[in-house]
Amino acid sequence: MKVTASSDSSPQISCSAIVVTTFDGPQLSGSAASLDAATGGALKGLFDRGEVSGKLARTSVFHDLPGVKAESVLVVGAGPESAFDEGAAFRIGGAALKRLADRARTRVAIDLSGMTVEVSAACVAGAMNGCVGQDTFRTEKNIKAIDELACCQSTVEAVNRGVVIGEGVLLTRELVNLPPNYMYPEAFATRAATVAVTCGLELEVWDELRLRRENCNALLAVNAGSSRPPRLLILRYAGTNNAEPLALVGKGVTFDSGGLSLKPTEGMTTMKCDMAGAATVLGTMQTIARLKLPTPVVGLVGLVENMVSGSCFKLGDVLTARSGKTIEILNTDAEGRLVLADVLDVALQENPKAIIDLATLTGACVVALGNDISGLMTNNSDLTEKIESAAEAVGELVWQLPMHSHFKEQIQSQVADIKNIGDGRWGGAITAAKFLEEFVAEKPWTHIDIAGPAFADKPKNYIDAGASGCMVRTLTKLIESM
Ligand code: BES
Ligand code: MN
Ligand code: ZN
Repeated sequence: MKVTASSDSSPQISCSAIVVTTFDGPQLSGSAASLDAATGGALKGLFDRGEVSGKLARTSVFHDLPGVKAESVLVVGAGPESAFDEGAAFRIGGAALKRLADRARTRVAIDLSGMTVEVSAACVAGAMNGCVGQDTFRTEKNIKAIDELACCQSTVEAVNRGVVIGEGVLLTRELVNLPPNYMYPEAFATRAATVAVTCGLELEVWDELRLRRENCNALLAVNAGSSRPPRLLILRYAGTNNAEPLALVGKGVTFDSGGLSLKPTEGMTTMKCDMAGAATVLGTMQTIARLKLPTPVVGLVGLVENMVSGSCFKLGDVLTARSGKTIEILNTDAEGRLVLADVLDVALQENPKAIIDLATLTGACVVALGNDISGLMTNNSDLTEKIESAAEAVGELVWQLPMHSHFKEQIQSQVADIKNIGDGRWGGAITAAKFLEEFVAEKPWTHIDIAGPAFADKPKNYIDAGASGCMVRTLTKLIESM
């Protein structure tokens, strides 16, 4: 979809549908109220009859209104005016365009009047994501193509920002939605190379031989059962200030069968999503590079496939991670932490001022927080508070889980330095985080478990089911605030 800034007013723009907004309240408001003047009160009449709702992301479509050039007018509820922010804007943009994508359209328009640069950009990003679904492999698509989105009452600056953020989220979603026979470690690396070239990132690729030489034995063990080679990528964004970089580390298990601790079919079906952490890192790197943010950032992703074969790693194996710590394997389905153990160790070499890792790490985090909230686990409350405010600002949901020291006792092993699971399943998100903490050498670090929000079974009114691209906007906001 092409996104443009238009100087036409909303009644004047020629397109198949114009999107206007109204806040939740007793009267038609927002850009819907401005359009109403041109319709001679027709929209207000519809509002008074209860045909229009101001509730967040509710949509209603009317055709052939007097005084309006567009064939249809879509009114989307913006929720309470006092709570209207980037999160609400992303949703209303998404809800409007998802609704309009019920059929193919060449041009739709959206009225962004009264919104700040940030809020309009969030609305544009949401709109771009609302009309792209997970059905790209279907001949007959549910979500039809919209060729152009024209933005009225906005600025080139706001529109460009929206496009950059929207495309970052779309990239992450696309990578996660791609089936595992298309998206495997080498394929991810190839895609990252394209991103690096087009937006000016430095890319270092470690192949299997290099991973061996670097003693990334924990990562290699997870991939040992796969017929596809693993990769580790280091993406460097220099920024403009000569500070130490922030490191973003992503879990990139392109398919998680569970290995010998095989998952049942229900649990395995969606395990193409297990590289969402890596996809979030790449989507964020693309976004910050295109926004030319000042802060230097290094992104590192470990890419493997957790498979079953005669060469796969086994229960009882003892691995020596890159850091030198030995790990007893008691469950091959607790593989993400093994990959991250080595990638975190490589991240330390970049001399980062702080590390944030993103991973679809545990089902336990989904049990604790549900499908829409990411879990935060940390050794540093300052960094975590910054992540919390960034998430709050863009309307993504995060919640901190405790990291008391008794959870660490649970990963002590009788035969090695640590074991890769806790004692039983209780507190499983936290014992996993305690395992990761062993590999960050006391650097300020926050682990974000995105197992719940990264991938949705059911569609929302503003976005299709499947990959969500969660945390790209939060991380962008965070890095922008640094
Ligand atoms: N990739 C899974 C976690 C996951 C679950 C992601 C649901 C997305 C949705 C991870 O590798 C895993 O299998 N974790 C195990 C850990 C256990 C064996 C200690 C889990 O959560 O059951
Ligand atoms: Mn697993
Ligand atoms: Zn996994």
